Amino acid sequence: MPLLAIVYFSISGTTEKLAHAVARGADSMADVALCRITGDHILSGRFKNESLLETIDGASAVAFGSPTYMGGPAAQFKAFADASSDRWSKQAWANKIAAGFTTGACAGGDQLHTLSYFSILAAQHGMLWCGLDLPGGEDPSGRNRLGSQLGLATHLIDGSLPQSDLSTAEYLGQRLAKLASRNG
Ligand SMILES: Cc1cc2nc3c(=O)[nH]c(=O)nc-3n(C[C@H](O)[C@H](O)[C@H](O)COP(=O)(O)O)c2cc1C
Repeated sequence: MPLLAIVYFSISGTTEKLAHAVARGADSMADVALCRITGDHILSGRFKNESLLETIDGASAVAFGSPTYMGGPAAQFKAFADASSDRWSKQAWANKIAAGFTTGACAGGDQLHTLSYFSILAAQHGMLWCGLDLPGGEDPSGRNRLGSQLGLATHLIDGSLPQSDLSTAEYLGQRLAKLASRNG
């Protein structure tokens, strides 16, 4: 089975819930590695976790996840991305499937910018971007409720994620696993 690496940062657990939902969606179609970026991976401002990067080396598909902080990915995620530059120079991650997910406190909290960043990171690595093929506002079960086709954008309602966002995350995991199998 192909390996799906889910690389994410989360402080208060919302992005982590999305990461677990992406993993559930891929279950039975892909092996899944949940790779949580934590503050202690970052020393003197630099991301230092070679084994996390090696996990991505062995993956066929990668999901990038971060809360939206100040209109973009969290600094901890960016530290990880910067540490991937050695791989970039060799295009070591070229042709892997990539997707992204994010969350925020507001419905229009500039989550699109975080997803745009993830897609540019994927393009820098020569990866193949996987968006959401769920028409916003048209899905009968209410998935992709914020109408974000580039990737999964979510926000908290009364302090928690609605089920439709978790279902969208599961769908994204399923789509990634299917594409990874086809690509492999
Ligand atoms: C420093 C900081 C900046 C934030 N900036 C944004 C933002 O630009 N847009 C937004 O919608 N939410 C913003 N938030 C809210 C977080 O995205 C939100 O609390 C999210 O659920 C945190 O994810 P986590 O539970 O995975 O840590 C910000 C939170 C923090 C702490």
